[in-house]
Amino acid sequence: MERNNLWNANLYDGRHNFVSQFGQSLVELLAPKPGERILDLGCGTGDLAHQIYENGVDVVGVDSSVNMVEQAKNKYPDINFIVEDATSLEYDSEFDAVFSNATLHWVKPPIKALLGIYDSLKPGGRFVAEFGGKGNVQTISNGILFEIEAAGFEFKKAHFPWFYPSIAEYSTLMEEVGFRVTFAQHFDRPTTLDGDDGLRNWIQMFGNQLFTGVPEESRAQIITNVENHLKEILHKDGRWVADYKRIRVIGIKE
Ligand code: BEZ
Repeated sequence: MERNNLWNANLYDGRHNFVSQFGQSLVELLAPKPGERILDLGCGTGDLAHQIYENGVDVVGVDSSVNMVEQAKNKYPDINFIVEDATSLEYDSEFDAVFSNATLHWVKPPIKALLGIYDSLKPGGRFVAEFGGKGNVQTISNGILFEIEAAGFEFKKAHFPWFYPSIAEYSTLMEEVGFRVTFAQHFDRPTTLDGDDGLRNWIQMFGNQLFTGVPEESRAQIITNVENHLKEILHKDGRWVADYKRIRVIGIKE
């Protein structure tokens, strides 16, 4: 997983806590039942794993970021949190469900994660996930790429950290590993970013990899140029609104 291990877990819980707030309705879609054993893949700082746990579930939370897992363990010491990458899961038919919120757009190759997810599930088990879908944050990423190149630096495709599939593309991958896809949805989720520096903070927290090869001293000015360029489009009623597009899927292991 290309997800940055240096993510600041406090910032994630503070300014970017919309990630787990939006995830609450995904927990409803998961419909956890007492006595179930559920894997939370990409658990971040553990808030949704905790919600699932509160339903009487035996939860295991995994995340590739050491910082996130440390913070999750401090917040919820009764839950089992483990540092683990989504492409190297080694569970064997032991979970009733695999749940994943706002993670799988960081995971490449996606088929490797799907194979591990499928193997982790008991027969009849469910995979319930939400993540960035086709066109996610496209206005922001196009704006960054444009300004990086306008400043005279090269942007290489390999530095694009995310995988944003359509539901057709992702359902096909799910079927390839053996899932019966029972639900797939692609929807807009305009997401308000906190404060005047909301876009800058978002770019610094999540978009760092796009700046690979750009000298540190040039980055702040490039981000200022992105803000100026995108203000007309993404700044509404005094607030920055990111152009999130999500997909939600449910697959059953048959
Ligand atoms: C998302 O949740 O869609 C997302 C979060 C961070 C970076 C890119 C996308």
